[in-house]
Amino acid sequence: MRIGLLTGGGDCPGLNAAIRAIVRCGLKRSEHTLVGFRNGWAGVLEDDAHELTLASTAGILARGGTILGTSRTNPFAAEVPDGVGQVRRTLGARAVDGLIAIGGEDTLGVAMRLHDEGIPVIGVPKTIDNDLGGTDTTIGYDTAVQIVTEAIDRLHTTAESHNRVMVVEVMGRHAGWIATSAGLGGGADVILVPERPFDIDEVCAHLRSRHARGRNFSIVVVAEGAIPREGTIETRTAGTFDAFGHIRLGGIGVMLEPEIESRTGFETRATILGHVQRGGTPTSFDRVLATRLGVAALEAIAAGKGGRMVGLRGTEIVDVPLSEALGEPKLVDPELYRTAEIFFG
Ligand code: F6P
Repeated sequence: MRIGLLTGGGDCPGLNAAIRAIVRCGLKRSEHTLVGFRNGWAGVLEDDAHELTLASTAGILARGGTILGTSRTNPFAAEVPDGVGQVRRTLGARAVDGLIAIGGEDTLGVAMRLHDEGIPVIGVPKTIDNDLGGTDTTIGYDTAVQIVTEAIDRLHTTAESHNRVMVVEVMGRHAGWIATSAGLGGGADVILVPERPFDIDEVCAHLRSRHARGRNFSIVVVAEGAIPREGTIETRTAGTFDAFGHIRLGGIGVMLEPEIESRTGFETRATILGHVQRGGTPTSFDRVLATRLGVAALEAIAAGKGGRMVGLRGTEIVDVPLSEALGEPKLVDPELYRTAEIFFG
């Protein structure tokens, strides 16, 4: 078979491990031809691709980012005329029998619509946000949690030295997985997530009571998608949108800094971890996960499957309909958040 491959949406550590696994498995087991499209769906629309070989995918297991490049291009966006027709023409010209799309909700949303149009596509779940259904965890999430946990450890020592409140803003658009896991692992004093609109007065009362107990510093972890309860502090209503209609987030940490300082009188500093969370080498967990998912995706497309996403359920690799992955975002497990709450009240 001739199998196309692309990475779409925000990058993350572990993408190269998945690419390597798909190529190795495809070439070694069955002598398929692997065609790598550059920059996500843009490469399919523009017919920008090259054959992937053992040599071109050597030495990439531990490398962050994606050797294929990525973009947030949407073939179904209004400004792309006849996107599906263009996809068909590219795949036809290159005699590609099926596609493997490694991505998050947007990339896999396109995969599902292409499947509905009769194009065989298998999805591989990646996003540091870990908010896709149909899988317990996504490629990149474990690495992001490690990075944020280490950052919280580092902020702890400087917070303690200066008797400050440190606000740490982390990624998490719809769900606070990174904030909750890294906050728990790093011993945060407050964790604010999109799932639970927060009251700034309650946050400040909690910080005051902690400081009254003699703890002169605090760590507040806030997911970028966390929202104050309506009316408690001013929220942003305008901004820049991507091709899938998502507003560019970021800034809640900077907004909280003066709010906390003026309401509590405690000196406060904000740190936005931003894209640091998506950079650098993947953890061993992410490398192994990406390798297992890559092999499963190759086997699924080679077996003639389409419209499905490979994923991890417990310790098993499974495949599920793309529609299961793309329903509502997978929110933070209530048990995990309840456990975290024990440590911050
Ligand atoms: O991949 C998802 C995500 O990490 C979101 O949490 C974040 O809002 C977004 O990517 C930012 O992506 P970029 O700035 O690369 O467009």
